[in-house]
Amino acid sequence: MTQTEREPLQLGIFMPNCSNAYSISTYRTGPDEWPYASNKRIALAAEAAGFDFLFPVSRWRGFGGKTNYLGLSQETMTWAAALLAVTTRLKVYSTVHVPVFHPLVAAKMGATLDHIGQGRWGINIVSGWSREEFGMMGIELLPHDQRYAKTAAFIEILKGLWTEEPGTFDYDSPWYRITGGYVNPQPVCKPHPPIVNAGVSEDVKELVARLCDWAFIGQSSIEETKGLTQDFKVRADRYQRRVRCAGYPFVLWRETEKEAEDEKRRILDQMDPVATENWARGLGIGSGSFDHFTLEMFALGAGALPVIGTAEQVALKLKRLYELGLDGVLMCFLSYYDDTVRFGREIVPLLRQLGVVGEAGDRTEVEEPR
Ligand SMILES: Cc1cc2nc3c(=O)[nH]c(=O)nc-3n(C[C@H](O)[C@H](O)[C@H](O)COP(=O)(O)O)c2cc1C
Repeated sequence: MTQTEREPLQLGIFMPNCSNAYSISTYRTGPDEWPYASNKRIALAAEAAGFDFLFPVSRWRGFGGKTNYLGLSQETMTWAAALLAVTTRLKVYSTVHVPVFHPLVAAKMGATLDHIGQGRWGINIVSGWSREEFGMMGIELLPHDQRYAKTAAFIEILKGLWTEEPGTFDYDSPWYRITGGYVNPQPVCKPHPPIVNAGVSEDVKELVARLCDWAFIGQSSIEETKGLTQDFKVRADRYQRRVRCAGYPFVLWRETEKEAEDEKRRILDQMDPVATENWARGLGIGSGSFDHFTLEMFALGAGALPVIGTAEQVALKLKRLYELGLDGVLMCFLSYYDDTVRFGREIVPLLRQLGVVGEAGDRTEVEEPR
Protein backbone atom coordinates (compact mmCIF):
# COMPACT_ATOMS: atom_id res chain seq x y z
CA MET A 1 0.00 0.00 0.00
CA THR A 2 1.43 3.41 -0.90
CA GLN A 3 1.45 6.35 1.49
CA THR A 4 -1.44 8.05 -0.33
CA GLU A 5 -3.55 4.89 -0.15
CA ARG A 6 -2.99 4.44 3.55
CA GLU A 7 -5.83 4.65 6.00
CA PRO A 8 -5.64 7.81 8.12
CA LEU A 9 -3.98 7.68 11.53
CA GLN A 10 -6.51 6.66 14.18
CA LEU A 11 -6.58 9.00 17.14
CA GLY A 12 -7.15 7.42 20.54
CA ILE A 13 -7.11 8.58 24.13
CA PHE A 14 -5.61 6.52 26.94
CA MET A 15 -8.46 7.49 29.26
CA PRO A 16 -8.07 8.43 32.91
CA ASN A 17 -10.34 5.70 34.27
CA CYS A 18 -7.84 5.43 37.16
CA SER A 19 -6.61 8.07 39.58
CA ASN A 20 -3.39 9.94 38.86
CA ALA A 21 -3.44 8.92 35.20
CA TYR A 22 -0.77 8.58 33.89
CA SER A 23 2.37 10.35 35.02
CA ILE A 24 3.72 8.95 38.28
CA SER A 25 4.07 12.40 39.78
CA THR A 26 2.35 14.70 42.23
CA TYR A 27 2.41 17.55 39.66
CA ARG A 28 -1.07 18.33 38.32
CA THR A 29 -2.59 21.26 36.46
CA GLY A 30 -6.19 20.48 37.44
CA PRO A 31 -8.33 18.06 39.45
CA ASP A 32 -7.85 14.32 39.09
CA GLU A 33 -10.19 13.19 36.32
CA TRP A 34 -10.79 9.52 37.21
CA PRO A 35 -14.51 9.76 38.27
CA TYR A 36 -17.11 8.58 35.77
CA ALA A 37 -18.57 12.08 35.32
CA SER A 38 -15.15 13.32 34.15
CA ASN A 39 -14.65 10.33 31.85
CA LYS A 40 -18.07 10.92 30.28
CA ARG A 41 -17.27 14.60 29.74
CA ILE A 42 -13.95 13.71 28.12
CA ALA A 43 -15.60 11.02 25.94
CA LEU A 44 -18.19 13.48 24.63
CA ALA A 45 -15.48 16.08 23.99
CA ALA A 46 -13.41 13.43 22.17
CA GLU A 47 -16.32 12.52 19.97
CA ALA A 48 -16.88 16.18 19.07
CA ALA A 49 -13.14 16.74 18.47
CA GLY A 50 -12.87 13.90 15.93
CA PHE A 51 -11.10 11.22 17.94
CA ASP A 52 -11.57 7.59 16.92
CA PHE A 53 -11.26 5.50 20.06
CA LEU A 54 -11.06 5.46 23.85
CA PHE A 55 -8.93 2.99 25.77
CA PRO A 56 -8.76 2.31 29.53
CA VAL A 57 -6.18 0.74 31.81
CA SER A 58 -7.25 -2.24 33.88
CA ARG A 59 -5.99 -2.16 37.48
CA TRP A 60 -7.14 -3.85 40.67
CA ARG A 61 -5.18 -1.91 43.29
CA GLY A 62 -2.83 1.07 43.64
CA PHE A 63 0.93 1.14 43.35
CA GLY A 64 1.69 2.90 46.64
CA GLY A 65 3.87 5.97 47.20
CA LYS A 66 2.52 9.45 47.87
CA THR A 67 0.12 9.16 44.94
CA ASN A 68 -1.00 5.56 45.54
CA TYR A 69 -0.67 5.54 41.77
CA LEU A 70 -3.83 4.30 39.93
CA GLY A 71 -5.32 3.45 43.33
CA LEU A 72 -8.88 4.54 42.48
CA SER A 73 -10.13 2.87 39.36
CA GLN A 74 -13.19 2.03 37.32
CA GLU A 75 -13.45 -1.56 36.06
CA THR A 76 -13.26 -1.48 32.29
CA MET A 77 -16.16 -3.71 31.12
CA THR A 78 -18.68 -1.73 33.15
CA TRP A 79 -16.92 1.54 32.27
CA ALA A 80 -17.17 0.74 28.53
CA ALA A 81 -20.88 -0.10 28.85
CA ALA A 82 -21.62 3.35 30.24
CA LEU A 83 -19.50 5.21 27.66
CA LEU A 84 -20.89 3.21 24.74
CA ALA A 85 -24.38 4.15 25.88
CA VAL A 86 -23.64 7.90 25.79
CA THR A 87 -21.54 8.08 22.60
CA THR A 88 -22.49 7.31 19.00
CA ARG A 89 -19.33 7.23 16.90
CA LEU A 90 -16.28 6.43 19.02
CA LYS A 91 -14.92 2.95 19.45
CA VAL A 92 -14.56 2.07 23.15
CA TYR A 93 -12.22 -0.67 24.40
CA SER A 94 -12.19 -2.74 27.56
CA THR A 95 -9.02 -4.30 28.97
CA VAL A 96 -9.32 -7.81 30.30
CA HIS A 97 -6.78 -9.67 32.44
CA VAL A 98 -6.69 -13.27 31.28
CA PRO A 99 -6.19 -14.82 34.76
CA VAL A 100 -9.15 -12.92 36.23
CA PHE A 101 -11.94 -13.70 33.72
CA HIS A 102 -13.19 -16.97 32.30
CA PRO A 103 -13.10 -16.59 28.49
CA LEU A 104 -16.75 -17.58 28.09
CA VAL A 105 -17.78 -14.89 30.58
CA ALA A 106 -15.60 -12.33 28.77
CA ALA A 107 -17.09 -13.42 25.41
CA LYS A 108 -20.62 -12.99 26.76
CA MET A 109 -19.88 -9.61 28.34
CA GLY A 110 -18.09 -8.50 25.17
CA ALA A 111 -20.98 -9.51 22.92
CA THR A 112 -23.33 -7.56 25.20
CA LEU A 113 -21.07 -4.49 25.07
CA ASP A 114 -20.89 -4.71 21.29
CA HIS A 115 -24.69 -4.73 21.14
CA ILE A 116 -24.86 -1.68 23.42
CA GLY A 117 -22.40 0.12 21.11
CA GLN A 118 -23.78 -1.39 17.87
CA GLY A 119 -20.37 -2.64 16.73
CA ARG A 120 -18.17 -0.04 18.45
CA TRP A 121 -16.58 -2.14 21.20
CA GLY A 122 -13.09 -3.67 21.18
CA ILE A 123 -11.03 -5.71 23.64
CA ASN A 124 -7.46 -5.40 24.89
CA ILE A 125 -6.43 -8.78 26.26
CA VAL A 126 -3.55 -8.58 28.72
CA SER A 127 -1.76 -11.39 30.51
CA GLY A 128 -1.08 -9.29 33.63
CA TRP A 129 2.14 -8.79 35.51
CA SER A 130 1.42 -7.45 38.99
CA ARG A 131 2.19 -9.93 41.78
CA GLU A 132 0.37 -7.64 44.22
CA GLU A 133 -2.86 -7.64 42.19
CA PHE A 134 -2.88 -11.35 41.51
CA GLY A 135 -1.54 -12.22 44.99
CA MET A 136 -4.51 -10.37 46.50
CA MET A 137 -6.79 -12.76 44.57
CA GLY A 138 -4.74 -15.89 45.27
CA ILE A 139 -3.81 -16.14 41.59
CA GLU A 140 -0.33 -17.33 40.65
CA LEU A 141 1.68 -15.18 38.22
CA LEU A 142 2.84 -17.68 35.57
CA PRO A 143 6.27 -17.48 33.88
CA HIS A 144 6.20 -15.08 30.91
CA ASP A 145 5.97 -17.71 28.13
CA GLN A 146 3.21 -19.66 29.91
CA ARG A 147 1.26 -16.45 30.55
CA TYR A 148 1.13 -15.80 26.82
CA ALA A 149 0.37 -19.45 25.93
CA LYS A 150 -2.68 -19.19 28.19
CA THR A 151 -3.58 -15.83 26.61
CA ALA A 152 -3.45 -17.47 23.16
CA ALA A 153 -5.93 -20.12 24.34
CA PHE A 154 -8.16 -17.36 25.75
CA ILE A 155 -8.23 -15.54 22.42
CA GLU A 156 -8.88 -18.72 20.41
CA ILE A 157 -11.87 -19.41 22.66
CA LEU A 158 -13.24 -15.86 22.27
CA LYS A 159 -13.00 -16.15 18.50
CA GLY A 160 -14.64 -19.59 18.47
CA LEU A 161 -17.51 -18.44 20.68
CA TRP A 162 -18.02 -15.29 18.64
CA THR A 163 -17.92 -16.88 15.18
CA GLU A 164 -19.08 -20.51 15.35
CA GLU A 165 -22.70 -21.63 15.58
CA PRO A 166 -23.78 -21.13 19.23
CA GLY A 167 -23.67 -24.44 21.07
CA THR A 168 -21.16 -26.12 18.77
CA PHE A 169 -17.76 -24.79 19.87
CA ASP A 170 -15.44 -27.22 21.66
CA TYR A 171 -11.95 -26.42 22.93
CA ASP A 172 -9.45 -28.32 25.00
CA SER A 173 -6.21 -26.96 26.48
CA PRO A 174 -4.21 -27.22 29.71
CA TRP A 175 -6.12 -24.13 30.97
CA TYR A 176 -9.64 -24.32 29.62
CA ARG A 177 -12.10 -26.93 28.42
CA ILE A 178 -15.17 -25.68 26.54
CA THR A 179 -17.88 -28.13 25.52
CA GLY A 180 -20.68 -26.98 23.25
CA GLY A 181 -19.73 -23.36 23.92
CA TYR A 182 -22.76 -21.10 23.62
CA VAL A 183 -22.69 -17.30 23.38
CA ASN A 184 -25.84 -15.84 21.86
CA PRO A 185 -26.25 -13.18 20.57
CA GLN A 186 -22.83 -12.99 19.00
CA PRO A 187 -21.20 -9.55 18.57
CA VAL A 188 -22.48 -7.06 15.98
CA CYS A 189 -18.97 -6.40 14.56
CA LYS A 190 -18.14 -9.20 12.10
CA PRO A 191 -16.33 -11.50 12.18
CA HIS A 192 -15.68 -10.29 15.73
CA PRO A 193 -14.72 -7.12 17.63
CA PRO A 194 -11.10 -5.98 17.23
CA ILE A 195 -8.67 -7.80 19.50
CA VAL A 196 -5.65 -5.90 20.85
CA ASN A 197 -2.60 -7.03 22.74
CA ALA A 198 -0.17 -4.58 24.28
CA GLY A 199 3.51 -5.47 24.51
CA VAL A 200 6.66 -5.90 22.47
CA SER A 201 8.34 -9.08 23.75
CA GLU A 202 8.96 -12.06 21.48
CA ASP A 203 6.02 -13.90 23.11
CA VAL A 204 3.70 -10.97 22.35
CA LYS A 205 4.90 -10.55 18.77
CA GLU A 206 4.07 -14.15 17.90
CA LEU A 207 0.73 -14.02 19.69
CA VAL A 208 -0.29 -10.82 17.92
CA ALA A 209 0.82 -12.05 14.49
CA ARG A 210 -1.24 -15.21 14.83
CA LEU A 211 -4.32 -14.01 16.69
CA CYS A 212 -4.74 -10.24 17.21
CA ASP A 213 -5.85 -7.31 15.06
CA TRP A 214 -3.87 -4.57 16.78
CA ALA A 215 -0.49 -4.39 18.52
CA PHE A 216 -0.32 -1.56 21.05
CA ILE A 217 3.35 -0.94 21.54
CA GLY A 218 5.45 0.86 24.11
CA GLN A 219 8.42 2.65 22.49
CA SER A 220 11.35 4.52 23.96
CA SER A 221 12.02 6.64 20.85
CA ILE A 222 10.29 7.78 17.67
CA GLU A 223 12.95 6.26 15.46
CA GLU A 224 12.56 2.73 16.79
CA THR A 225 8.97 2.74 15.49
CA LYS A 226 9.88 1.55 12.01
CA GLY A 227 11.67 -1.58 13.16
CA LEU A 228 8.88 -2.46 15.58
CA THR A 229 5.97 -1.93 13.19
CA GLN A 230 7.72 -3.76 10.35
CA ASP A 231 8.47 -6.67 12.62
CA PHE A 232 4.79 -7.02 13.61
CA LYS A 233 3.63 -6.71 10.01
CA VAL A 234 6.15 -9.18 8.54
CA ARG A 235 5.24 -11.75 11.18
CA ALA A 236 1.52 -11.28 10.48
CA ASP A 237 2.15 -11.75 6.73
CA ARG A 238 3.44 -15.24 7.52
CA TYR A 239 -0.06 -16.11 8.75
CA GLN A 240 -1.69 -14.19 5.84
CA ARG A 241 -3.10 -11.78 8.40
CA ARG A 242 -3.16 -8.03 8.81
CA VAL A 243 -2.03 -6.46 12.07
CA ARG A 244 -2.25 -2.74 12.74
CA CYS A 245 0.07 -1.01 15.21
CA ALA A 246 -0.68 1.76 17.68
CA GLY A 247 1.88 3.66 19.74
CA TYR A 248 1.47 5.16 23.16
CA PRO A 249 2.65 8.82 23.25
CA PHE A 250 2.46 11.35 26.06
CA VAL A 251 1.35 14.44 24.14
CA LEU A 252 2.09 17.84 25.67
CA TRP A 253 2.20 21.14 23.79
CA ARG A 254 2.54 24.80 24.75
CA GLU A 255 3.07 28.13 22.92
CA THR A 256 6.83 27.60 22.88
CA GLU A 257 9.04 24.54 22.99
CA LYS A 258 10.65 25.86 26.18
CA GLU A 259 7.31 26.16 27.98
CA ALA A 260 6.45 22.58 27.00
CA GLU A 261 9.85 21.31 28.18
CA ASP A 262 9.46 23.26 31.45
CA GLU A 263 6.10 21.58 32.03
CA LYS A 264 7.65 18.18 31.41
CA ARG A 265 10.45 19.06 33.88
CA ARG A 266 7.86 19.94 36.55
CA ILE A 267 6.25 16.52 36.12
CA LEU A 268 9.62 14.80 36.49
CA ASP A 269 10.82 16.98 39.38
CA GLN A 270 7.70 15.95 41.32
CA MET A 271 8.03 12.26 40.46
CA ASP A 272 6.64 9.88 43.09
CA PRO A 273 9.75 7.72 43.49
CA VAL A 274 8.16 4.92 45.53
CA ALA A 275 5.25 4.37 43.14
CA THR A 276 7.57 4.68 40.11
CA GLU A 277 9.86 1.98 41.55
CA ASN A 278 6.89 -0.27 42.27
CA TRP A 279 5.56 0.23 38.76
CA ALA A 280 8.88 -0.26 37.00
CA ARG A 281 9.87 -3.32 39.02
CA GLY A 282 6.50 -5.05 38.55
CA LEU A 283 6.16 -4.32 34.84
CA GLY A 284 9.70 -5.42 34.08
CA ILE A 285 9.47 -8.84 35.75
CA GLY A 286 10.10 -11.55 33.18
CA SER A 287 9.37 -9.12 30.35
CA GLY A 288 12.66 -7.78 29.02
CA SER A 289 10.70 -5.13 27.11
CA PHE A 290 11.71 -2.30 29.43
CA ASP A 291 15.31 -3.13 30.28
CA HIS A 292 16.54 0.14 28.72
CA PHE A 293 13.92 2.36 30.42
CA THR A 294 15.05 4.76 33.16
CA LEU A 295 12.87 5.71 36.16
CA GLU A 296 12.21 9.12 34.57
CA MET A 297 10.96 7.37 31.43
CA PHE A 298 8.51 5.41 33.57
CA ALA A 299 7.46 8.50 35.53
CA LEU A 300 6.34 10.39 32.40
CA GLY A 301 3.07 8.74 31.37
CA ALA A 302 4.10 5.41 32.95
CA GLY A 303 6.55 4.73 30.12
CA ALA A 304 4.77 6.57 27.29
CA LEU A 305 6.76 8.03 24.39
CA PRO A 306 7.24 11.80 24.96
CA VAL A 307 5.74 13.82 22.06
CA ILE A 308 6.36 17.32 23.33
CA GLY A 309 6.81 20.82 21.89
CA THR A 310 4.66 23.42 20.13
CA ALA A 311 1.44 22.40 18.37
CA GLU A 312 3.34 22.33 15.04
CA GLN A 313 6.14 20.21 16.48
CA VAL A 314 3.68 17.77 18.01
CA ALA A 315 1.78 17.47 14.71
CA LEU A 316 5.04 16.81 12.84
CA LYS A 317 6.12 14.19 15.36
CA LEU A 318 2.77 12.42 15.04
CA LYS A 319 3.17 12.55 11.26
CA ARG A 320 6.60 10.98 11.62
CA LEU A 321 5.15 8.17 13.73
CA TYR A 322 2.54 7.59 11.03
CA GLU A 323 5.21 7.54 8.32
CA LEU A 324 7.20 5.02 10.34
CA GLY A 325 4.29 2.62 10.35
CA LEU A 326 1.89 3.46 13.18
CA ASP A 327 -1.79 3.09 12.27
CA GLY A 328 -2.99 4.65 15.49
CA VAL A 329 -1.93 6.58 18.57
CA LEU A 330 -3.17 6.08 22.09
CA MET A 331 -2.47 9.45 23.66
CA CYS A 332 -1.94 10.35 27.31
CA PHE A 333 -2.47 13.97 28.32
CA LEU A 334 -1.63 16.02 31.38
CA SER A 335 -5.07 17.60 31.72
CA TYR A 336 -7.48 15.31 29.92
CA TYR A 337 -10.61 17.34 29.32
CA ASP A 338 -8.77 20.54 28.42
CA ASP A 339 -6.23 18.76 26.25
CA THR A 340 -8.90 16.76 24.41
CA VAL A 341 -10.68 19.98 23.46
CA ARG A 342 -7.39 21.78 22.64
CA PHE A 343 -6.14 18.83 20.58
CA GLY A 344 -9.29 18.95 18.47
CA ARG A 345 -8.93 22.71 17.99
CA GLU A 346 -5.16 23.11 17.62
CA ILE A 347 -3.67 19.84 16.39
CA VAL A 348 -6.34 17.97 14.43
CA PRO A 349 -6.44 20.77 11.77
CA LEU A 350 -2.63 20.55 11.41
CA LEU A 351 -2.79 16.75 11.07
CA ARG A 352 -5.47 17.19 8.44
CA GLN A 353 -3.29 19.64 6.49
CA LEU A 354 -0.40 17.18 6.73
CA GLY A 355 -2.58 14.39 5.30
CA VAL A 356 -2.30 12.27 8.44
CA VAL A 357 -5.99 12.23 9.42
CA GLY A 358 -9.12 12.63 7.30
CA GLU A 359 -12.09 14.87 7.83
CA ALA A 360 -13.85 14.38 11.17
CA GLY A 361 -16.01 11.31 11.11
CA ASP A 362 -14.55 9.62 8.05
CA ARG A 363 -12.15 7.48 10.02
CA THR A 364 -14.48 5.82 12.44
CA GLU A 365 -16.24 3.14 10.46
CA VAL A 366 -16.51 -0.18 12.23
CA GLU A 367 -13.60 -2.13 10.94
CA GLU A 368 -13.75 -5.78 10.19
CA PRO A 369 -10.78 -7.81 11.44
CA ARG A 370 -9.48 -10.47 9.04
C1 LIG B 1 -0.72 0.63 25.67
C2 LIG B 1 -0.56 -0.39 26.73
C3 LIG B 1 -1.63 -0.68 27.59
C4 LIG B 1 -1.50 -1.63 28.59
N1 LIG B 1 -2.54 -1.85 29.45
C5 LIG B 1 -2.39 -2.72 30.48
C6 LIG B 1 -3.42 -2.91 31.43
O1 LIG B 1 -4.47 -2.26 31.36
N2 LIG B 1 -3.22 -3.77 32.46
C7 LIG B 1 -2.06 -4.50 32.58
O2 LIG B 1 -1.95 -5.27 33.53
N3 LIG B 1 -1.07 -4.33 31.68
C8 LIG B 1 -1.20 -3.47 30.66
N4 LIG B 1 -0.18 -3.29 29.76
C9 LIG B 1 1.06 -4.06 29.92
C10 LIG B 1 1.16 -5.16 28.88
O3 LIG B 1 0.06 -6.05 28.93
C11 LIG B 1 2.46 -5.93 29.03
O4 LIG B 1 2.51 -6.56 30.29
C12 LIG B 1 3.67 -5.00 28.94
O5 LIG B 1 3.55 -4.15 27.82
C13 LIG B 1 4.93 -5.84 28.80
O6 LIG B 1 4.89 -6.47 27.58
P1 LIG B 1 5.69 -7.80 27.32
O7 LIG B 1 5.04 -8.89 28.13
O8 LIG B 1 5.60 -8.03 25.85
O9 LIG B 1 7.10 -7.56 27.77
C14 LIG B 1 -0.28 -2.33 28.74
C15 LIG B 1 0.79 -2.04 27.88
C16 LIG B 1 0.66 -1.08 26.89
C17 LIG B 1 1.84 -0.79 25.99
